[in-house]
Amino acid sequence: MELNEIKEVTITGIDHYGRGIGKIDGCVIFIPNTLVDEKVKVKITTVKKDYLEGEVIDFLNISEKRITPKCPYFYECGGCDLMHMDYQEQLLFKETKVKEIMQKFAGIDNNLVKEIISSDDLFNYRNKIAFQVKKGKIGFCKKKSYDLVDIDNCLISDEKMNKILKLIKEKIGLYGIEQVIIRSCKNTDDLMIILDINRPIDEEKIIKTLSDIASSIIKKIRNKYTVIVGNDYIIEKLGDLSFIISPSSFFQVNTKQTVKLYNKVLEYAKLTGKEKVLDLYCGTGTIGLYLSRYCKEVLGVEINKDAIKDAFKNKELNNIKNIDFKCGDVSNIIDSINFKPDIIVVDPPRSGLDQYTINQLIKINPEKIIYVSCDPITLARDLNLLKEHYEIKEITPVDMFVNTYHVENVVLLTRL
Ligand SMILES: C[S@@+](CC[C@H](N)C(=O)[O-])C[C@H]1O[C@@H](n2cnc3c(N)ncnc32)[C@H](O)[C@@H]1O
Repeated sequence: MELNEIKEVTITGIDHYGRGIGKIDGCVIFIPNTLVDEKVKVKITTVKKDYLEGEVIDFLNISEKRITPKCPYFYECGGCDLMHMDYQEQLLFKETKVKEIMQKFAGIDNNLVKEIISSDDLFNYRNKIAFQVKKGKIGFCKKKSYDLVDIDNCLISDEKMNKILKLIKEKIGLYGIEQVIIRSCKNTDDLMIILDINRPIDEEKIIKTLSDIASSIIKKIRNKYTVIVGNDYIIEKLGDLSFIISPSSFFQVNTKQTVKLYNKVLEYAKLTGKEKVLDLYCGTGTIGLYLSRYCKEVLGVEINKDAIKDAFKNKELNNIKNIDFKCGDVSNIIDSINFKPDIIVVDPPRSGLDQYTINQLIKINPEKIIYVSCDPITLARDLNLLKEHYEIKEITPVDMFVNTYHVENVVLLTRL
């Protein structure tokens, strides 16, 4: 097969990144923006030893599951992957992807993967966005590139974020700015703008232009945060709890779906009031605080010092007494914490758990482990190691990242 050759292909499947899969003379080809059963004329853009990549030149047959992407940047921007699929198809794609990965990497039966928890909002759902700035453009990286797509409006961002983008473009300019991070609360009026800068900026102009819309404006120079306007935190609400969030602390990006995610953790925990819960990778203490009202005691562990400070403030803010936090790397401190949990909740970053931590979980031997994960591949790898000692009872995918190929999962494991 030659580069730039034009071929006709029928799409027979979708890969885990949302790309259509077909075959040309027995060789697999991956084609973005295609759906199962579509027949396309494709230009070959990559030729590798065992696969090809291509781009659609023409659609010869269109799936009834195809919709017109609402976003004008969709085909170019690397932010979203699935805006051409109707929402039911997106959900089916994510559920199928989780089933395939669990089966392939951990031998987990498809029946254990439950129906995905869908999102009510298909747009404007993100509470955090990072606009990149480069060569006079502000926006996101193009698909498979570090070049930027200059954008005026991002449909998965909250409306206020787009207003700020417009104000920055029209009134402030991009001089000295490398990145604009916006965190916007859904259940309070708080909004934080973090300007990541590499040279002095006109702070007066920034205050004048943005202080009506932002409760906090912060400049970031080489990982040091300095407040220009307001506080060095924002406060968001989840259910009846309030959470302080500092600039560098992790907070789930889809506020509405987070409540559904944490409710699933609560359901799996089946707390009676007697349990001791260990919340590993606890961030600002959100899951632990959520569960603390229904159990005896919680200990949260987190590596980010600012997040731990937030967690202690969140304990105070919500007047919760039966929770404590420790700052440190889980794998370094897990064997020295003097706490014997009945339930361990883990919510690690994309890389998942390391072998040492898995061994320690097995050694601690709690009755239940509840694993929250944003990466099904590392999740399956870890479940495969845990399953010798724990029965995998149920996996529930949650659609936290609508219009992208990403999918969150919550897993209930019980001691064998
Ligand atoms: C996916 S977030 C989950 C946070 C929290 N459970 C929540 O729902 O908001 C993962 C968290 O793990 C923390 N983290 C990453 N590596 C860690 C480690 N080795 N030990 C402890 N915490 C870690 C990150 O700082 C982040 O706050």
